[in-house]
Amino acid sequence: MKPRPVAALVFLALVPAAAQPIPEAQADQRARALLAQMTLPEKIGQLSQLFYGIGPTPSDPIELVRSGSVGSFLFVTDPATTNRLQHIAVEQSPHHIPLLFGFDVVHGFHTIFPVPLALAASWDPALIRAVQSLAAREAAAVGVRWTFAPMVDIARDPRWGRIVEGAGEDPVLGSAIARAQVQGFQGPYIGAPDHVIACVKHFAGYGAADGGRDYDSSYIPDTLLWNVYLRPFEAAVQAGVGTLMSAYMDLNDVPATGNRFLLDDVLRKTWGFRGFVVSDAFSVRDLATHGFARDPADAALRALTAGVDMDMGSMTFARQLPALVQQNRVSRDRIDEAVRLILIAKIRLGLFEHPFVDEARAPQVFNDPATRRQARLAAARSAVLLRNEHSALPLNPNLASLAVLGPLADSSSDILGSWSFAGASAPAQTILQALRARLPNARIDYAPGVQLRRRFPSMFDALFGIKHPTPWSPAQARTELDRAVSLARAASTVVLVLGEAQEMSGETGSRSSLDLPGDQEKLLEAVAAAGKPTVLVVLAGRPLNLSWASAHIPAILDVWYPGVEGASATADLLFGDAVPGGKLPVTFPRSAGQIPVYYAHNLTHEPETALDFTSRYQDELTSPLYPFGYGLSYTTFSFSHLRLDKPAVPAGSTIIGSVDVANTGSRPGDEVVQIYVHQRSGSASRPVRELKFFERVSLAPGESKTVRFSLGRSDLAYWSSATRSWVNEPSAFDLWAGADSNAPLHATFDVTP
Ligand code: NOJ
Repeated sequence: MKPRPVAALVFLALVPAAAQPIPEAQADQRARALLAQMTLPEKIGQLSQLFYGIGPTPSDPIELVRSGSVGSFLFVTDPATTNRLQHIAVEQSPHHIPLLFGFDVVHGFHTIFPVPLALAASWDPALIRAVQSLAAREAAAVGVRWTFAPMVDIARDPRWGRIVEGAGEDPVLGSAIARAQVQGFQGPYIGAPDHVIACVKHFAGYGAADGGRDYDSSYIPDTLLWNVYLRPFEAAVQAGVGTLMSAYMDLNDVPATGNRFLLDDVLRKTWGFRGFVVSDAFSVRDLATHGFARDPADAALRALTAGVDMDMGSMTFARQLPALVQQNRVSRDRIDEAVRLILIAKIRLGLFEHPFVDEARAPQVFNDPATRRQARLAAARSAVLLRNEHSALPLNPNLASLAVLGPLADSSSDILGSWSFAGASAPAQTILQALRARLPNARIDYAPGVQLRRRFPSMFDALFGIKHPTPWSPAQARTELDRAVSLARAASTVVLVLGEAQEMSGETGSRSSLDLPGDQEKLLEAVAAAGKPTVLVVLAGRPLNLSWASAHIPAILDVWYPGVEGASATADLLFGDAVPGGKLPVTFPRSAGQIPVYYAHNLTHEPETALDFTSRYQDELTSPLYPFGYGLSYTTFSFSHLRLDKPAVPAGSTIIGSVDVANTGSRPGDEVVQIYVHQRSGSASRPVRELKFFERVSLAPGESKTVRFSLGRSDLAYWSSATRSWVNEPSAFDLWAGADSNAPLHATFDVTP
């Protein structure tokens, strides 16, 4: 093929993406036509993705692009570079195939939104869709048309650092959020202007890593795999997600990247996924590290034949596939199939017609005030009010003096959370700054009190050159703690901001404990002893052990990592300009010793309520500190009139119900109506409760709404390990409606044969 005239390309570049969907069948035809002209090395190039700008690059990337030896880059985030590389690809490479630039647009690109676990706490899929659509717009403006998100790994072990990147412990909440994210990122169709193609990850079971240790093996019984861990992936596939990433770890002894059961039997044959699969970074190479593949050639062979289409970062496909094809160990058809799927994605994204971006447009997109407003709203809607004794919150805006204490109170980076590398170049406002801005006439003093530091450094420190302050000497540490306590004594009110520094959660951010890191518990208890009205603001990427705080600090507001507008949103919440309405997407244990603790567990032979079994631990309650679905408001709500349209339904039919929810307090606020179900008998034991429906509703004081729900075949079906199939079984069912997973309002119905 001859190079296309440059002028035509420049003209085409000004239109950002396909303004009309390119039908899949048409994209397929074009892909096949192109494929017929490509050489084997070029095809293998399309299967190879490289890091750019971080980590080691195997050889000259420009030359690799020119020769068609690479089809995709990750971590290129500025439009001048995407354009420069793209010009080489479409003007100089043999068949002018555009590059696909990918990046972890996890919770914002330039404008950093709350972390995914926080967004999940909003229980607001519409908000999440809107947020990811804005994130996509910013990414697309620089030429990044592929995000490695959503991360939909269910996590029931909060020691696992990456719990922050997902939607928590529940498959129904997780599936709703997975769908919303796919729709937000991709828009109405793959290739929609200002949108990106999504990549659901990490397939599958990464969240069940042994001991919560990142990358460690997962052992997941079939019942949990089908009923829990795979559900959000299936939801993403049904929502039309364009790509999927295989996970790092062994799943039941078979590494996910070489796992044919996952990548072929489940993904392609059972769910009918038609997009392409990318490995996680270096995980093709690592099939040998796991002790699974014999050598790099075997790793390439097994990843490709299991169903991986693109090798992220490791160049194992690039180095091994030519010889494997020559030796007839890998079929040309399998290579063609992988290339075809990747080309279809590039065609549907409109990259052939519009490979470049308008570099002048990116700053305009970044500076859209509507995006910042959405970030502030998202942060406010994600916060969870855990405790509020005697209406300690909201604070009186006329307070005379405030001590703002804690190592996270004046941090502009921790507030963003992980995966914020391409975030706003101007630092985010800190909570201290936001409170100063909110109370211009009050006396506000600040002390960090303690320092925060990981015992073992994060890999991101080295990759991005992140520097940490020099540790205090023991004498300095004493002085700083004393200073914080004396400020607390002198102030009329105290806001303590405690939790985890940014790099304490996320990838390689697993912890063996859920305690407040460092000396923060000491600071907390010393400040509380000062006896002033105290509010604890928690900044963290996971449930923390807040047991002492929950007994002694009147008000606790968990804002997670709330993002670039997180400080202003926190001030809005503390002073009542916004009302907390978020709910926990994950159970808060009393301590790490309770893990795993999640609401949808099965009954034991001796329920907890029996006399001698008030606790199944002899030294700790069985109940968690805060249950799944829990969160308070500045107002109060009541639930009533739980009704079902019939007392019994035949298996496979739908039952319709409704419940009234009323705002019984004096402020407007939001409640999340939650419906839980329990199947009383069947071919297998079922969890005590499972979330089946939720809806976040806004209510004015005194207002009441009737919320309707329906439970159909798929809601009442489960995968039975006895029959090894999906079943809709006749049984009596319990149903509860209310504000969290302990909701008391109860009804029953029967499913009949
Ligand atoms: C490794 C992570 O596991 C994955 O989530 C991410 O998308 C890739 N690196 C690329 O950054």
